[in-house]
Amino acid sequence: MSSLSTLPLRGSKLVAPSILSADFANLEKEIKAVATAGADWIHVDVMDGHFVPNLTIGVPVVKSLKKVSPLPLDVHLMIDKPERFVEDFIKAGADYLTIHVESTQDPASVLRKITALGAKAGITLRPGTSVESVLPLLNLCDLVLVMTVEPGFGGQSFMHDQIAKITALRAEIRKQKLNCLIEVDGGINAETAKLCADADVFVAGSYVFGRNYAEGIATLKNP
Ligand code: DX5
Ligand code: ZN
Repeated sequence: MSSLSTLPLRGSKLVAPSILSADFANLEKEIKAVATAGADWIHVDVMDGHFVPNLTIGVPVVKSLKKVSPLPLDVHLMIDKPERFVEDFIKAGADYLTIHVESTQDPASVLRKITALGAKAGITLRPGTSVESVLPLLNLCDLVLVMTVEPGFGGQSFMHDQIAKITALRAEIRKQKLNCLIEVDGGINAETAKLCADADVFVAGSYVFGRNYAEGIATLKNP
């Protein structure tokens, strides 16, 4: 039987609001509000000003969020050489830890390290990176994240040409009989979520935090 802890019910998506679009002065309140509104995970975007042209939050903030979050922390590392920091992020409380395939010379060993340290391992790729680059890594992953915007900022428009990657990943996961969730991140809203039928998890920042949280989350759960 499939593990209920990782697989969503058929037809109902998991929703991971990205706190990049939340009120940074009130993160505890925001996290509790989206949890009450039906969110499944909290998506945390970590940027280093180098791998992407923006700086956000680091290990100490993740540690503080962990203390107040009733939901798993889904940490998306947009940093160079993530192997330097995976242990710190897991100790701080990352439940899912996702690295970019472009950010390290040896993604397989970083994914193995994440798993060995007790977190769920995720791989992701920039829109310009071919899906073939992550296929050989899927058997080391609990999660594969398809970026549907260029990583770095919230509030960008969904890139329709990335949908084919979701389809290809679903076919490969079926073929290899893997237990790997497909997550989509960037420009997700009521319309674009409908185009991602093969996804299991929707990350949404500006869409969820820009309206009534419960309505936004309910819409994404059943697009
Ligand atoms: C972009 C981040 C996203 C971002 C999504 O680099 O990975 O998680 O916050 O924001 P929206 O949903 O507004 O596109
Ligand atoms: Zn993200």
